[in-house]
Amino acid sequence: MAKVFAIANQKGGVGKTTTCINLAASLVATKRRVLLIDLDPQGNATMGSGIDKHALEHSIYDVLIGECTVADAMQTSEHGGYKVLPANRDLTAAEVGLLEMNMKESRLRNALAPIRDKYDYILIDCPPALSMLTVNALVAADGVIIPMQCEYYALEGLSDLINTVQRISSLLNPSLKIEGLLRTMYDPRISLTNDVSNQLKEHFAEQLYQTVIPRNVRLAEAPSFGMPALVYDKQSRGALAYLALAGELVRRQRVSAKPATA
Ligand SMILES: Nc1ncnc2c1ncn2[C@@H]1O[C@H](COP(=O)(O)OP(=O)(O)O)[C@@H](O)[C@H]1O
Ligand SMILES: [Mg+2]
Repeated sequence: MAKVFAIANQKGGVGKTTTCINLAASLVATKRRVLLIDLDPQGNATMGSGIDKHALEHSIYDVLIGECTVADAMQTSEHGGYKVLPANRDLTAAEVGLLEMNMKESRLRNALAPIRDKYDYILIDCPPALSMLTVNALVAADGVIIPMQCEYYALEGLSDLINTVQRISSLLNPSLKIEGLLRTMYDPRISLTNDVSNQLKEHFAEQLYQTVIPRNVRLAEAPSFGMPALVYDKQSRGALAYLALAGELVRRQRVSAKPATA
């Protein structure tokens, strides 16, 4: 049964999409079966996976409103090796449309139920807002991965996100937890980076990934070729960091899956 992770942070530009694409490709490199769901109307994860968002016959929007099945909308990332449920601007309409539907918070969860056993990991790229789309991601997920830049305002937004996760976990999805906090675009030469990083260690010792993602131009270049960094430049520091993250994530799963011994 797949572990479903929402990659979320209501701030834009913190590395959600970059993390989704590169973590998906890195998990594939370790022989896991991976599905990436693009839940952002900007369709960046779709394009970065090498799929033209302007030429979609079906998208995640159609799945959410019940117009097609997950299988109808599913595509494969040629270079990444993972499956994709793509998105484009149509998804903006879902924000409003969903509000009028039955079970509006559980549409994604219900759509995924029949295919969850076909994957090891399902990664959901969330939009930069705590909107109905993000709520759908959090209701469908087992855990939330929060990418963040170590800058002054990072912690401020974090408490809103954590409150939302707690509310959804108490009302709609008791199994939801914060899976991990990921430091992205990390530059240890900046002293503020170290200050924020230390605060994160203090407050989120359990959840903070040891792996940090450095600022690396290859990670920014790769999406315009529809490739993960692992294929674009497999020796790049960015590609290696996401491979390390995949390793850490898989190890954590094993540790938490171990039954407690007397
Ligand atoms: N580690 C990194 N090093 C360099 N550039 C990065 C890195 N992570 C993301 N970027 C770039 O920063 C911008 C925002 O990243 P993105 O993943 O799209 O954020 P989000 O999905 O949270 O809006 C993009 O142009 C992306 O290519
Ligand atoms: Mg994004």
